[in-house]
Parts: sequence; C-alpha cells; structure tokens
Amino acid sequence: MPEALVKFGLQEALRDFCDAIESSSGIRIVFQQFGEKRKLSNTAEVFIYRIIQELVNNAVKHAEAERVIVQLTMSADKTGITVEDDGKGFDKNDLSFARGAGMANINYRVQYFSGKSDIVSSRGNGTSVHIELKT
Ligand SMILES: Nc1ncnc2c1ncn2[C@@H]1O[C@H](COP(=O)(O)OP(=O)(O)OP(=O)(O)O)[C@@H](O)[C@H]1O
Ligand SMILES: [Mg+2]
Repeated sequence: MPEALVKFGLQEALRDFCDAIESSSGIRIVFQQFGEKRKLSNTAEVFIYRIIQELVNNAVKHAEAERVIVQLTMSADKTGITVEDDGKGFDKNDLSFARGAGMANINYRVQYFSGKSDIVSSRGNGTSVHIELKT
C-alpha cells in the first residue's frame, strides 16, 4: 500500500499526489472532494488511488493539457471519480487506446467493485473520465 495512503488516508494522499504532479509537470492539477469522507477497505482505497494516478498520468503524458480536475465523491454506498483535462483528446477507436495497459488495469479495478466507467473524449475537446464504484 502506498505510504501516504496508510499515513494520511485517501483524500490527503490524493491531494499530495496532485500537488506533486502539479509541481513536477507545471500543469495545474485541481483536487476536489465532495460528499462524505468515509474510510473504505484498504483494497478500495488502493484501487481508487491507482485509478486516479493512472488517469492523471495519462492526462499529463498524452493530453498536452493546461489544467486537470480530479473529483472524488463519496456517498453512503458508492464512490465516484472524475478526471477531466482540457487537452487534445483522442479517438477511442484508435489502436493505441485499445492496446494501453493503463486503461485495461482501470477496467479490471472497476469490474472488481461492480462499477461502471464512462469516457468522453474527442480530438481537440479534452477528455473526461467518470467512474463509479460500489464501495
Ligand atoms: N487524457 C488523455 N488525453 C489524450 N489521450 C489519452 C488520454 N488518456 C489516454 N489517452 C490515449 O489512450 C491511450 C491508452 O492509454 P493507456 O493509459 O491505456 O496506455 P498508455 O498511457 O499509453 O500506456 P501505459 O498506461 O501502459 O503506460 C494512450 O496511449 C493515449 O493515446
Ligand atoms: Mg496510461
């Protein structure tokens, strides 16, 4: 388990991660948290942390974005994740998208928690990924 997660909990660890990526990349990374602040199972917290890491890294690596917004929303029995960038977007039909290990890993983690994911992206219009996990 990532050390920051054990020490500070999910929200603080995510805030730290976003701050660190903002400093190293020069891209504005905004972290917002809504709803309840529940302690989830270790597995759920690690999965959510990893999903957000991957989505933010993708935005930094591929999008040429100026700004990334990360939102974590907890309610009584589910947790929502949104990561949105204002970069160049991509075509979901591209082979490079189908081949990526990052998105495949996210799908595995989403299925593990009977969740659903929705990716809205098109060339020139940025990317918005919304995920909801039953946890
Ligand atoms: N936010 C984004 N903006 C633009 N393109 C993206 C974004 N996220 C993903 N992509 C595109 O989708 C592809 C697949 O992403 P994925 O995370 O699965 O793989 P990867 O990042 O290329 O490699 P890996 O995650 O295994 O290091 C990327 O190569 C990129 O072309
Ligand atoms: Mg990736």
